Amino acid sequence: MSRLAPRPAAAPLTPDLAAFASEVRNGLTHAPQKELPSKYLYDDIGSALFEAITVLPEYGLTRSEDRLLTRYAAEIVEALPAGVTVAELGSGSGRKTRRILEALCRKRPTSYCPIEISRTALQVCRRELADIERIAIVGYERDYLAGLAEVSRQRAAGEQLCVLFLGSTIGNFTRLAATRFLREIRSMLEPGDTLLLGTDLIKPVETLLAAYDDAIGVTAAFNLNLLARINRELDGDFDLTAFEHVARFNRDARSVEMHLRAKTRVEARVGAANLTVALEAGETIWTESSHKYHADEIPAIAADAGFVCAHQWVEKEWGFAESLLVSA
Ligand code: AVJ
Repeated sequence: MSRLAPRPAAAPLTPDLAAFASEVRNGLTHAPQKELPSKYLYDDIGSALFEAITVLPEYGLTRSEDRLLTRYAAEIVEALPAGVTVAELGSGSGRKTRRILEALCRKRPTSYCPIEISRTALQVCRRELADIERIAIVGYERDYLAGLAEVSRQRAAGEQLCVLFLGSTIGNFTRLAATRFLREIRSMLEPGDTLLLGTDLIKPVETLLAAYDDAIGVTAAFNLNLLARINRELDGDFDLTAFEHVARFNRDARSVEMHLRAKTRVEARVGAANLTVALEAGETIWTESSHKYHADEIPAIAADAGFVCAHQWVEKEWGFAESLLVSA
């Protein structure tokens, strides 16, 4: 909300804003490292900036996965049980899913259930994919696990699911949290159900850092938008010019971290979180981690979560893997 039109003091927050405010409060009082949850990067502005990131020369990830799915869609579909219903965690723009859905729908009419917390993203995805012949799209405006539970509950006897978790979104989890998340997915699946998992692979640090700190500053804008969003939605007064975008490689975690670094000492007030926060010069707020994998780590992680890795397709030019995990 603009500071020119202040929120009335007693205005109650919607449940979503109250949750945002409470996570901002927890994250910005977290010692020694201040942090903010990466999911809040994706409001309409953040999602548009991420779409721009995917076409940057430095960010090879999305093009690499596109090549992989274009090249191997028919082979991937051959490896799936016949007649699967497709449930996708995060619909994104729908572009990367198109190849697989086209290959499936060529064989038989197919149901596609994108699961996505953003209504805008669901609409974009439906608009993008509705022209595929013999597709039935049913969107779920839910978080991933709640949405998947619902899709799984609603299936007919004998109907098998293929879950898509593409784009290396799993990279936002630590390795431990990724395994736990895969276990939760597994608990909602029946034996023989499948999960197609996209992971960005480990590559030279200079390549990784450039991908998360591009020359024209789109990723910097994407990161700074998180503070701008706090200003807009939570009655904050962060001075955006006092912060700079930083990308770092964390060798222990094998992740690229994004931070927002205070260039000088900064103080800010976040009205809706009833919080005043101070950062020392050089202090950072950690906003996102993108974990990178060796292709041969995936079968072990899958096994840990109750899956068997049946196939793997690797794009070597950039370094990206699509792994087909079968629920044991
Ligand atoms: C959408 C989570 C896969 O981690 O590479 C891109 C988000 N952040 N540039 C990633 C992102 C900065 C992206 N994911």
